[in-house]
Amino acid sequence: MSSQLRIYVPEHPLLKHWLVVARDRNTPPALFKTAMVELGRWLTYEATRYWFPTQEIKLETPIANCDGTIINPEIPIAVVPILRAGLALLEGAQSLLPLANTYHLGIKRDEETLKPHCYLNFLPEKFNPDSRIIILDPMLATGGTMMMAMEELTRRGADPALMRIITVVVARPALTELSQTYSELNIYGAMIDEGVNSKGYIVPGLGDAGDRAFGT
Ligand code: URA
Repeated sequence: MSSQLRIYVPEHPLLKHWLVVARDRNTPPALFKTAMVELGRWLTYEATRYWFPTQEIKLETPIANCDGTIINPEIPIAVVPILRAGLALLEGAQSLLPLANTYHLGIKRDEETLKPHCYLNFLPEKFNPDSRIIILDPMLATGGTMMMAMEELTRRGADPALMRIITVVVARPALTELSQTYSELNIYGAMIDEGVNSKGYIVPGLGDAGDRAFGT
């Protein structure tokens, strides 16, 4: 069966609100970081809604026996923040996923050529093939950084069909690029913007997410 990349933009006032805070050029770094944390939290909530593997259990309350549903503890959950800007989303995601393993991946774009290079890689040698993987990167512009992250992940046995990408702003060129190779992907974002300028920034976007989150 053929598949098609899916992009979800959940309709939620909190997402709209924090996106405006993040987009506004007058937002100071501390508040920008808060916006990223909140967007990471609510997008993770939406992305995991029908996706986490669950298990039915029986339990006893202080009053009676009853049935319940828990997250299946046998299935590993991994979170992969793409440094630097993914770190701000991580804070929000981790508040919902305290038991997930976090594997940092540092990928930087060359400012002239816009080509990405990987400067830090804490991925495991091999992923459990059942692992559910959440990748965090607030800006999907040309798709180059995410393509490199996907290459590193799939080389280690990660299954694109079991991944969720959490981002804030996605531009069309990234969607086109990713869909050509990874059609099984599911992406959750707060907004789709049309374009990318000659310097690789999303328009209107929100500027350099790493610089703005960390005040650099
Ligand atoms: N990375 C950013 O931080 N901002 C963009 O607009 C594109 C890539």
